[in-house]
Amino acid sequence: MTDSKMSPTRGLDDPLLTSAQIIQRTEELAREVRRDFGETDLLLVGILKGSLYFLADFSRALGGEVEIDFIQVSSYHGEKSSSGVVQIRKDLDSNIEGRDVLLVEDIVDTGTTLSHLRELLQVRKPRSLSVVSLLSKRVAKGNLFDVEYVGFEIPDEFVVGYGLDYGERYRNLPEVFILRDEKLQ
Ligand code: IMP
Repeated sequence: MTDSKMSPTRGLDDPLLTSAQIIQRTEELAREVRRDFGETDLLLVGILKGSLYFLADFSRALGGEVEIDFIQVSSYHGEKSSSGVVQIRKDLDSNIEGRDVLLVEDIVDTGTTLSHLRELLQVRKPRSLSVVSLLSKRVAKGNLFDVEYVGFEIPDEFVVGYGLDYGERYRNLPEVFILRDEKLQ
């Protein structure tokens, strides 16, 4: 299929982050986490659906003993959330009591999702609960919410690819692109 109209990146600018950059940073993050936790058995909790590819690459870069579980929360993104409350749509299969849990997220924007998720999961008494997020817009937003491990601080732009979607599209792009307003449909 050579028709450029079929290209999923049609209309997008050059990648903000290339595959090589993502992989290199993912390996660095994995080393940081292993340095902090040693060879401890970690429970990685992927936040569906955006963390899909990052979780796959990060878990393989970590090596050692890991278990993987998933959680899905209600998404209010792009809507005005009056309550700001995040609800669980798909819960974990595992009991996290006494476990070292690492939440794996694609992007932190306002930090609302993660702060609510932390509260919800702390109640279940994990031994530790940390967060690794590939991307963060925190600096742009001036949000001081703590994320232990961040791959890249990015500008306050809407991004897609490598798991991140716009209306469920673009997730399967191997790189991260800015989706500018004029391209939002
Ligand atoms: P927060 O609760 O404001 O931190 O938003 C986090 C969630 O919003 C992420 O898990 C994403 O699902 C979504 N999100 C935030 N920014 C973007 C973006 O630039 N592209 C795609 N999804 C985003």
